[in-house]
Amino acid sequence: MATCLGLISMVDWTKIRRDFPSLERTINGRPVVYLDSACMALKPRQVIDAMNEYYEMYPACGGRSIHRFGKDASEAYTAARGKFAKFLNAAQEAECIWTRNATESLNIVASSIELPKDSKIITTSLEHHSGSLPFVERAKRDNLQIEIIKAQKDGTFDIEDWKNAIDSNTSLVSVVHSSNVTGTIAPMKEIVEIAHDRGALVMCDDAQYAPHHPLDVQAADVDFSAISVHKMCGPTGMGVLYGKMEHLESMKMALYGGDTVSDVKFENGKIIPEYLPPPEKFEAGLQNYAGAIGAGAAADYLQSIGMHEIEKHERSLLEVALKKMIDMEHVHILGTDDISIKTGLVTFSVDTVPSAHDVATFLNDEYNIMVRSGWHCVGPFHYQMGIDPKKGTARASFYLYNNMNDVKAFLDGLETLIDASA
Ligand SMILES: Cc1ncc(COP(=O)(O)O)c(C=O)c1O
Repeated sequence: MATCLGLISMVDWTKIRRDFPSLERTINGRPVVYLDSACMALKPRQVIDAMNEYYEMYPACGGRSIHRFGKDASEAYTAARGKFAKFLNAAQEAECIWTRNATESLNIVASSIELPKDSKIITTSLEHHSGSLPFVERAKRDNLQIEIIKAQKDGTFDIEDWKNAIDSNTSLVSVVHSSNVTGTIAPMKEIVEIAHDRGALVMCDDAQYAPHHPLDVQAADVDFSAISVHKMCGPTGMGVLYGKMEHLESMKMALYGGDTVSDVKFENGKIIPEYLPPPEKFEAGLQNYAGAIGAGAAADYLQSIGMHEIEKHERSLLEVALKKMIDMEHVHILGTDDISIKTGLVTFSVDTVPSAHDVATFLNDEYNIMVRSGWHCVGPFHYQMGIDPKKGTARASFYLYNNMNDVKAFLDGLETLIDASA
């Protein structure tokens, strides 16, 4: 098991924790232990305040109205995109498209990118359904080939499988950067190199990676990246699609309507639109201004702490949890225990308990410990591993506001459950 102990953080994590009002709650006189950030991250005051400021001070439409509220909304909306572009190190702000979530980002690419007739799409057995299904359906729609690379049992990939699968007929590869079920980080650098070498585009699902690790889309050289803002301390209903400008420019639009056009002429009984370039091309209709402003605030918030620091902090929690869980009788961990290639989450089952929902219910009801249970929208990998999706697996995920007390409470709760059920 790789180690990261010994790295001393300069961040005051106790102070960080105080930024999250929901952690001040007590339920039945006990504090809450929130270990479900891989599903939804908690929101810091800085994000809530930025959104409240919009609603209280200038709750108007950006981009259209020229009055003062409209100007304030436009400025804040534009600034938020700039903050997000900085967070990702995108070459241009216009390469960051606001979406409703990572699922929408993935769907836009799957439905709108031009792919040559008879070409092949590649994806994996470890994808979230939002990373695989849009491409499965695209392949069906246009009669394209689709190949699914099997993750290994520990959730890692054999690079030889990628070398063998990606051929000169491959037009697009959709791959999850960090798995929401095993936490394993895919060898993106190698995958991108092989794909580009053979003329294929890379769609990277960064829903789990972006909140927890430093991400530089230019250095990564991915063609597209899908980001889930609600998993990175931002508001719900917000996502980002990053795309290299050349691809965004050549893609079909996903939705047509207001705010996507520079002119709409009426000539000889015909309506003739002139569409705007990205990002407006992909942002039809009145936008989620508060959401974008919150997303910008979340990007600023995480950057002010430092993504390297956040990564180290989470891994130090994961290391302690994993070390203990590996030795627990009746606990089975899904995914590698090499924390150097793992995001801060651990997915597991307990063989003395009928289903993962029972684990989650026990921890919640007895100790306010909130973990996720189910198949985590990754049915294929559960089937590959012979796990009944109805029984599912439980997942504890760590983020910047968690601390060793949370880890200890979780491990103690799990031990109590095992003792009671064995
Ligand atoms: C790896 C991964 N991809 C995609 C998604 C979908 O994200 P969203 O809820 O933002 O659509 C998730 C959500 O859990 C995820 O974990």
